[in-house]
Amino acid sequence: MDKNIVLIGFMGSGKSMIACELAKRLKRQVLATDRLVELKEGQTIDEIFKSKGETYFRKLESEIIKEVSLRRGVIIDCGGGVVCVKENLKFLKAGGIVFYLDATPEVIYERIRHEKHRPLLNTPDPLGRIKELLNQRLPLYNQADHIIDANDASIEGPVVEILKKIK
Ligand code: S3P
Repeated sequence: MDKNIVLIGFMGSGKSMIACELAKRLKRQVLATDRLVELKEGQTIDEIFKSKGETYFRKLESEIIKEVSLRRGVIIDCGGGVVCVKENLKFLKAGGIVFYLDATPEVIYERIRHEKHRPLLNTPDPLGRIKELLNQRLPLYNQADHIIDANDASIEGPVVEILKKIK
């Protein structure tokens, strides 16, 4: 099976940790779109948002999505807002199986409340913002090939479920 394994989901849904664990077990490479955007631009995500804005970031992110979707047999760890641009999901699905890691706003908030590097949640009411963004994005996330419950603190459940689905 040389299709990519694509992980989408809100910030804090566990994409990066699950991607790393899958990579270890399957001996596959992880491509994290946020890291590739940062490398391409020579700035952190936070700096890109501050200096050039979200629209510019989304343009860069879409370029990276097109590039990584051409690869085969890799694990793609996507930024949480990747579904905001419709054609991204089309490219990702063309090259891989897309898994949505589903977590509630409360679980997400608990996981990321002490982190400072996520520009979109740098607001006085992060939980409210999570609920609002998740509400907007849910119909898009639900277009994934598979929906995986990612509410548990342990990543073992989602990892095993994804491994089963790709067998
Ligand atoms: C974003 C999620 C982030 C990053 C950027 C925007 C979003 O990625 O791409 O801050 O719009 O949800 P993670 O989901 O890896 O934190």
